[in-house]
Amino acid sequence: MSGIARSGRFARALHESAATFLSSLRFDWRLLQDDVKGSLAHVAMLKKSRIIPAGAAERISQGLQTILHEWEAGVLAPRPDWEDVHMNVEGRLQELIGEEAGYLHTARSRNDQVALDMHLYMLRQGGAIAAQCRELMMSLAALAQRTQEVIMPGYTHLQPAQPVRMAHHWLAYGSMFQRDYTRLMDWFERANVSPLGAGALAGTPYPTDPEYTRELLGLAHLYHNSLDAVSDRDYLLEFLGWASIFVVHVSRLAEELVLWSSREFQFIALGDAFSTGSSIMPQKKNPDVAELLRGKSGRIFGHLISLLTVMKGLPLAYNSDMQEDKEAIFDTVDTVQAILDILPPLLSDLTINPPRLQEAAVAQFSNATDLADRIAQEGVPFRQAHHRVGELVRLCVESGYQSFAEVPAEVWAQWAPAIPAAWIDELAPQQLADARQQSFATGKDSVARQLEEFTAWLNQLPEAGTV
Ligand code: ARG
Repeated sequence: MSGIARSGRFARALHESAATFLSSLRFDWRLLQDDVKGSLAHVAMLKKSRIIPAGAAERISQGLQTILHEWEAGVLAPRPDWEDVHMNVEGRLQELIGEEAGYLHTARSRNDQVALDMHLYMLRQGGAIAAQCRELMMSLAALAQRTQEVIMPGYTHLQPAQPVRMAHHWLAYGSMFQRDYTRLMDWFERANVSPLGAGALAGTPYPTDPEYTRELLGLAHLYHNSLDAVSDRDYLLEFLGWASIFVVHVSRLAEELVLWSSREFQFIALGDAFSTGSSIMPQKKNPDVAELLRGKSGRIFGHLISLLTVMKGLPLAYNSDMQEDKEAIFDTVDTVQAILDILPPLLSDLTINPPRLQEAAVAQFSNATDLADRIAQEGVPFRQAHHRVGELVRLCVESGYQSFAEVPAEVWAQWAPAIPAAWIDELAPQQLADARQQSFATGKDSVARQLEEFTAWLNQLPEAGTV
């Protein structure tokens, strides 16, 4: 085994089970490019500050570049006898350039090294996720564009409440993902810090220049406190919190897709490319993709709780417990990216069923509030008007009428002599929607303006994230 793998402090090798238990290689291999990038900055600083011989620094840099190329070409295999990605890079470097590789770890610890790798990894993935979020919002804007004239029932308590424009409904999700996007931008601020130079915890006695490495790595700030630098996982917890809120939004949207594509609703149809059959029932078209989108939230909430639990009782500074951050974070990044890969094309492929939505918008007395409002306009207190309309709904239900409009004129005249039947005709879903003209309401012009503002905001976003 190579000399880097085991400290001279120990007379015996690690027990096999301990080596397996400690190893993070199974999951931290994905940090290789970030690890090499961090090491390149570190060795450049060591050279500039004359901490190690210039020639050795040159050869270390070249060796690191070779390792990166080998990794990119897929010819660098992880070696399980080296416990993590950091030891793998150093071990391979030693194979390539010999004992001079040992200079690389001067004035550095794996504690500031792994912290740096995670910051670099997260900023990279955060940028990719931001770009994907933009795609998702663009697909919602396109759906809203298509459905501005489609009227549907808006719900409270999952009971039909008042008619809304379908575009308004999609734009509500647009607003949620817009908050997710801006929340991610806020997160960048706090994730964009360099811990490199903190060493194991206290700094190092060499004349290092952490500002120089920070600058080389393109990070915005340096940590103020080296103990905090190596033990801070707040930005990971924050990302898991971010992802949890994001998947709540995804899950609510997915639930509506499942519900709306059901035989009972028939508001939408999912594209064949995003539907599945049953292995026993030939007639089935199942919304498995939407169901899985809904279900993915579970594991992400779990990862948030798991890392909160890992961190909550840890004394300063680094503790190996923190190695548990990786699988939680990596699975969350993978899951969020998988969701963002599939959701935009799935939304673009939806078929909308306007006649069915219109029919549902009329049903269930969704114009009852407006009838009460109309009566109130005549000077009747709203509470009394509400009671009166409630009575009329009860009469209709008892007599088997599905809507006020179905009640024959002579019956209506008998039930409600003071309420002209013509008022009912004025309470068609489209009119009801358009009567709501506040900036955030469901009226035609309001929704058109909301869509315009959303699209204008989307158009000024950078295409490929911000970092
Ligand atoms: N694999 C470790 C982790 O993920 C790297 C840091 C190890 N540091 C240490 N002092 N054991 O946290």
